[in-house]
Amino acid sequence: MSQNNLEHLLVKNRQWAQRIKDDDPSFFQQLSSQQKPRYLWIGCADSRVPCTQLVDLLPGEMFVHRNVANLVIHTDFNCLSVMQYAIDVLQVEHIIVCGHYRCGGIQAALQNQQFGLIDNWLRHVQDVIAKYKNYLDKFVTEQERLDQLCELNVIEQVFNVCENTLVRHAWNRGQKLSVHGWIYGVEDGLLRDLSLNVSSIEEMKSSVHHLFTKTGLI
Ligand code: CO
Repeated sequence: MSQNNLEHLLVKNRQWAQRIKDDDPSFFQQLSSQQKPRYLWIGCADSRVPCTQLVDLLPGEMFVHRNVANLVIHTDFNCLSVMQYAIDVLQVEHIIVCGHYRCGGIQAALQNQQFGLIDNWLRHVQDVIAKYKNYLDKFVTEQERLDQLCELNVIEQVFNVCENTLVRHAWNRGQKLSVHGWIYGVEDGLLRDLSLNVSSIEEMKSSVHHLFTKTGLI
């Protein structure tokens, strides 16, 4: 057996599946016929933010899209396809946009670090920096600015979700759907609610107004 093989992961998988079957012998059989998750998670690809693990959910309970810096870009058909399937077909009730502190993508954007192709993706974060520059400049330390930017980026992505036609159409037809902004602390394993829970266009407008007032944009 090669030392480079991944047998240890396959062994762990068999042990994990067995543990679940010990609790509920028909768990996987029942799950194989359908999924009915109530949540769509849009989060960062960072290995320290294993979404279903940190909210202690089982397979079948959360639909997931992850990318670097948890961005929701209006023309990203990967993210849009996940959202469309989750909203229209699975009819999830909650979309959780979750960022995290110490995000390498956010840090690279803030410090203008060069990593190659990904710099283009992170231009979207630099758009957020440009928009809130005056507000971010009020924070003295780099760490404070980084923390603030991680939070602002989540809030901006929540608004991007809400402004999307998929969500707007769902609200227009009376579908129950809420969009939430959360941030995760990789240093303590805890999620924080950014007090952003949006269930209608009116709520979104008042959240935008609140943020723009807080950050001095209006
Ligand atoms: Co990250």
